Amino acid sequence: VTDTAAATPAPRKPALPDAQTVTEVQHYTDRLFRFRVTRPPSFRFRAGEFVMIGLMGDNGKPLLRAYSIASPSWEDELEFYSIKVPNGPLTSRLQHIRPGDQIILRPKPVGTLVHDALLPGKRLWFFATGTGIAPFASLLREPETWEKYDQVILTHTCREVGELTYGRELIEDLRTNELYQELFGAGFEKRLHYYPTTTREESHKMGRITDLLRSGEVFEDLGLDPITPEKDRAMICGNLAFNLELKALLEDWELEEGANSDPQTYVVEKAFLD
Ligand code: A2P
Repeated sequence: VTDTAAATPAPRKPALPDAQTVTEVQHYTDRLFRFRVTRPPSFRFRAGEFVMIGLMGDNGKPLLRAYSIASPSWEDELEFYSIKVPNGPLTSRLQHIRPGDQIILRPKPVGTLVHDALLPGKRLWFFATGTGIAPFASLLREPETWEKYDQVILTHTCREVGELTYGRELIEDLRTNELYQELFGAGFEKRLHYYPTTTREESHKMGRITDLLRSGEVFEDLGLDPITPEKDRAMICGNLAFNLELKALLEDWELEEGANSDPQTYVVEKAFLD
């Protein structure tokens, strides 16, 4: 004899598929914020990869966007750095998440901004605009980056000074946090060069990185030799126009675009917008 009343489950709100819990949220400007979520024990990724994340849409279907993972692969949480688009289908809602809320995290990270897509080299250049700094925030905190290269140069071009805060804090953490000291030994200043620029607000360095590379000003400022395909490797992540212009510049300098299946001397990925 079965007790049908007891066997019938009470109607419940459907569980979010691939749900993870938000642990931390920090807002930088009215256009930028970062957040952290729990990481499933089975979730593996390579530094520099992106993953689909999102929220449940009003139509009951997941509303997902590609986000670079900003945290290193050894951390037990996942960090994301996001733009807030006022009418963006996802970010207009995502910007309101708070610790304890749930988001959807799809399980399959992918991407080309990975060490596997580059041939060995001496210097590694990270060229970012806006939220395109996210994959480099992961790679900079990855021991493999410092095992493979003598020097890493991060350039970050934003419209306004406030948009540089995430990167500044990241570099300051790398410089001062004991956790990272063994990555650099005594040579932090020699091994990591940080080159932030703004284009629409006064700062100590103004201009698009593409122009500053072309004129040679970047190399003069940093006291570094120009880029050559023998010693330099590069990763590009920014808006579409920036990616295209920088690709052309690197190809003028005889670097070649690589992929996971065909490692070469530079790789590129779009910073995704809502
Ligand atoms: P600019 O202010 O001169 O357009 P956005 O917020 O539009 O994605 O831009 C982020 C940064 O990328 C801005 O500082 C912008 O400069 C810069 N940028 C846009 N297009 C290019 C490009 N083709 N080459 C270099 N930098 C660019």
